[in-house]
Amino acid sequence: MDFHVMTLFPEMVSQGLSTSILGRAMSKNLISLECINIRDYSADQKHHKVDDYTYGGGAGMLMQAQPVYDCYKSLESRIDSSHTKRVIYVTPQGKVFNQQLAAEFAQADDLIFLCGHYEGIDERVLEEIVTDYVSIGDYVLTGGELPAMVMIDTISRLVPGVLNNDISAETESFTDGLLEYPQYSRPEEWMGKKVPPILLSGDHKKVDEWRLQMSLERTKERRPELYEAWMAAHPPKPPKKR
Ligand code: ADE
Repeated sequence: MDFHVMTLFPEMVSQGLSTSILGRAMSKNLISLECINIRDYSADQKHHKVDDYTYGGGAGMLMQAQPVYDCYKSLESRIDSSHTKRVIYVTPQGKVFNQQLAAEFAQADDLIFLCGHYEGIDERVLEEIVTDYVSIGDYVLTGGELPAMVMIDTISRLVPGVLNNDISAETESFTDGLLEYPQYSRPEEWMGKKVPPILLSGDHKKVDEWRLQMSLERTKERRPELYEAWMAAHPPKPPKKR
């Protein structure tokens, strides 16, 4: 998986994503991350300006079409034409990102993230290059870099080999539409609280049943809308006729 980020703050993204699990995945060539400074494509040789006032008036500046388009064309020319790619504009006006969308994006060879600043980007260049408009939630950040980083982190975990243990990506929260069950490590008793005895029983069937029950209870309490959706998709089986 090759990630490309078009941004005015490339260091923010490259430094933020180069440690820990993603740093290791990059050194193993499982993923790559290229951060491109849109300002380098400004036609304004002197001040490298990339923004201007909006037509029709209103507060704030808008990123202009030309530097964004030239940055994109340069990047596109370096990507193998046989590769599948998506161009994602991170914006609060997009579809809300979730685990399912992450899994869909993880199928592409190349993902290009376009990060806006100021009041946004000239609509005409968006129409020209963007394939997906994506938000990370119903709140507004100062720029698209943090949302792009959130998405890159989430998608990278789904790339085979990035997590040491692929099973953990399958059983965790959201993959099956439920929140994950509670987990415990040593010691067996801490601050007077004991690990649930069933987890020490060695009976894997019982442990699985208990975990599903805990997932259901936790989801019902913390995310009732997810619980309702899961219950609708898993109606209780009618009792067997004798
Ligand atoms: N840019 C600013 N706020 C955002 C959000 N919530 N999601 C994606 N991009 C954004």
